[in-house]
Amino acid sequence: MDVQTAGSAAVAFGGPALAVAGGVSLLFLKSFLSHQVGGGSNPSQLPVVPEVPGLPVLGNLLQLKEKKPYKTFSKWAETYGPIYSIKTGANSMVVINSNDLAKEAFVTRFNSITSRKLSKALTILTADKAMVAMSDYDDYHKTVKRNILASILGPAALKKHRIHRDTLGENLSKKLHDLAPNSAQEAINLRKIFQSELFTLALKQTFGRDIESIYVRDLGTTMTRDEAFDVLVLDPMMGAIEVDWRDFFPYLSWIPNENFETKIKQMYIRREAVMKALIQEHKKKTQSEENLNCYIDYLLSEAKELTEKQLIMSLWEPIIETADTTMVTTEWAMYELAKNPKKQARLYEEIQSVCGSEKITEEKLCKMPYLAAVFHETLRVHSPVPIIPLRYVHENTEIGGYHVPSGTELAINIYGCNMEREIWEDPEHWNPERFLAEKEPIDLQRTMAFGGGKRVCAGAMQAMLIACVSIGRMVHEFEWSLKDDSGEDINTLGLTTQKLNPMLAVIKPRN
Ligand code: HEM
Repeated sequence: MDVQTAGSAAVAFGGPALAVAGGVSLLFLKSFLSHQVGGGSNPSQLPVVPEVPGLPVLGNLLQLKEKKPYKTFSKWAETYGPIYSIKTGANSMVVINSNDLAKEAFVTRFNSITSRKLSKALTILTADKAMVAMSDYDDYHKTVKRNILASILGPAALKKHRIHRDTLGENLSKKLHDLAPNSAQEAINLRKIFQSELFTLALKQTFGRDIESIYVRDLGTTMTRDEAFDVLVLDPMMGAIEVDWRDFFPYLSWIPNENFETKIKQMYIRREAVMKALIQEHKKKTQSEENLNCYIDYLLSEAKELTEKQLIMSLWEPIIETADTTMVTTEWAMYELAKNPKKQARLYEEIQSVCGSEKITEEKLCKMPYLAAVFHETLRVHSPVPIIPLRYVHENTEIGGYHVPSGTELAINIYGCNMEREIWEDPEHWNPERFLAEKEPIDLQRTMAFGGGKRVCAGAMQAMLIACVSIGRMVHEFEWSLKDDSGEDINTLGLTTQKLNPMLAVIKPRN
């Protein structure tokens, strides 16, 4: 399917959508659309949000044909202003492209925008919103968020899992030292190494141990660790942006789309089978071993009210969240540093002056402002989630002085916010120095890459600790250069904006 999206929200369109639209009576659609939310009268005295002109029935779908909607959104902001509305088929969507307006939506107007709008693919893959990041802001959200904070992501839990993060750093360093002597001939693919280490970390946090393989009874097969990674992480990342044309024409939902549903349901079934196998294996082993103090132990003893499905989703959530975004950020940072030897040298000098011959540790991060600046500048220029998973306005509200009616989808274009010229000088340019001018320590939410308000990313601190220590350690121990500059193009096939081609680097140990 030639359909693409950005962020976990499907801001997408495609051939099938067009085909169907052509076959349906225009008259029927016109009368339907006029009754759609947003198409009615404005009960408030506020002006309506400026509209980007589009076509009847399809709205702006055709204009979103290019594969990076966050870039199209930013371009439109130059003409229509930082807030405008578009039509994706029958749906009305308001798009926000500025820091101030994003904050207003995240915080001031939050009570009117507490739910998510999920595509059909995400509805299946999230077991109908049964995870923290994709649920509505309701009691279920509060319960599962409390669980994940208590056992994995909150300050006490982060302390408990420190040992696993330290092991990640050691393994990463060892693997790079093993590969370094040959790296001029066989370039280092950091993504492969780092992603695997993050998967190990996620498995340890969740199940207390890594795996080499796993017998999956429901599928009647033994899977290697790599195969399990594909089923748990890669396939759902691809599946999450699959588009069903019915997403844009909800009134046609009665028409079956079996190919689509079979494909996504298969992903769901395989993931569930692997998760069940991991749970079974854990229960078998822990009968003879000590309590491993991991997430599953916590949930089995403290969250007995969860159904089996909810338990599976709760355990799967940190696995997919740990394995991807942190890797994407770290790879982009190392790519920029390898491309900019002067900035790499500046970072090395900072680390050397703080750590000398000792290893970089989490405690030392606060003494390294340039390392923090590298991290935040990378998030700003290469936000892994460029559009916040779509929010849904469930009661009339206002944003930026405009009336936003109930039933509108809300897309907050993080990329657009981070490219705002009034706030960032020369915004396209990767320049960590811009953060050094700031007096306070850099706020984790400065770039909006982690979202904001009550739904701000719960894993921001873990991501920051892992990414900063890893980037620091890799620069402290090796000099990095690019084998070939494969460019900055972005892979639009997955959920997050990773590099299209993995960075291939040559590394030279520093004494
Ligand atoms: C650089 C790395 C990361 C980035 C850029 C990132 C970004 C985001 C964004 C944009 C959101 C949506 C916020 C919103 O709707 O306003 C989010 C939510 C969330 N993230 Fe992250 N994330 C990262 C790493 C992680 C990690 C490592 C974990 C956990 C292991 C995690 C767990 C979560 C959770 C649980 C939520 C849902 C919070 C809620 O709805 O209350 N994230 N993240």
